[in-house]
Amino acid sequence: MTQANTPTIPAVDLTVHHQPGDLSDRFALSVTKLLRWCADTFFAKRYGHRAIVLETVAAVPGMVGATLTHLRCLRKLEADRGWIRTLMEEAENERMHLMTFVAVAQPTLFERWLILLVQWLFYIGFFVLYLFSARTAHRLVGYFEEEAVISYTHYLNEIDAGRSANVPAPAIALQYWGLPANATLRDVVLVVRADEAHHRDVNHGFAAQLGDQAANSGLSPDLNSDLAPYPWHASTLEIEKPAVTPYRKTADFNETTLPAALKRRHNTASDVWGVIRVKQGQLKLTFLEPHSEQVLDASNPGYLAPQQDHFVEPLGKVSVCVEFYHSDPRAA
Ligand SMILES: [Fe+2]
Ligand SMILES: [Fe+2]
Repeated sequence: MTQANTPTIPAVDLTVHHQPGDLSDRFALSVTKLLRWCADTFFAKRYGHRAIVLETVAAVPGMVGATLTHLRCLRKLEADRGWIRTLMEEAENERMHLMTFVAVAQPTLFERWLILLVQWLFYIGFFVLYLFSARTAHRLVGYFEEEAVISYTHYLNEIDAGRSANVPAPAIALQYWGLPANATLRDVVLVVRADEAHHRDVNHGFAAQLGDQAANSGLSPDLNSDLAPYPWHASTLEIEKPAVTPYRKTADFNETTLPAALKRRHNTASDVWGVIRVKQGQLKLTFLEPHSEQVLDASNPGYLAPQQDHFVEPLGKVSVCVEFYHSDPRAA
């Protein structure tokens, strides 16, 4: 059990619960309890799978709320007070939760069908609810997020008890939350739980603002200064930039198996970039026209532009392969 890698995350109040005050609140809480029972029954303690399916649902309300708030602002010619961006950031944040957990566990075929079905039902149901009562819709999300905080706390307990493997954090999580290289699943669950607590407070706050209940909600009546900037998150534009990957890679050659053709003048096709990767030892790369030489080793790969004439020469024992790309790998 490793608990030393905990990144700096905002303080999370695990005890927040909005006491239902009227019929709208009681409806939202009842729906939440019903859906909680369904999730508990179906997933039990399969927290990785539970996270994937429920995060596909969690990413819906923000986008619905943003869309309908946007349309209302257009109709009423009024400002959004920061709500649209906040809700879109919530949707994006939930989608990053999903991308993170998909890197940890793979949904079963049945769960993939369930995701499709639930998305249709939940999107339409939430859209209609938001049209009729945005306050109830935000209260519902507030209660969902209370449950999400509880579920991720249970997930942490499973990891701490050794019943769920505390695997290394996936690369996407390291980038998105800026976690250290040795971060684990436990660290990921901690930052995800902090996000859920933030959504909980924002949505209960929105419901309170819509119902003018700020005074007795226990939350700040003016959340505009608190709206979700997610300062500890990286831009998803950076994270989701596709990595350039080679379309072909040679076998590993040594100083005796290195093909003679590579030791003579040759080049790549007009639309092919090459990277010579030395794994052990050293290799001399010579470019012609203009003439230049480089000594390649494990930390210095050789980059070949399309049709750039060159040849290579082993400098003693060597292990090397060549990768081929359809675009410049250094531009990634
Ligand atoms: Fe989430
Ligand atoms: Fe959430």
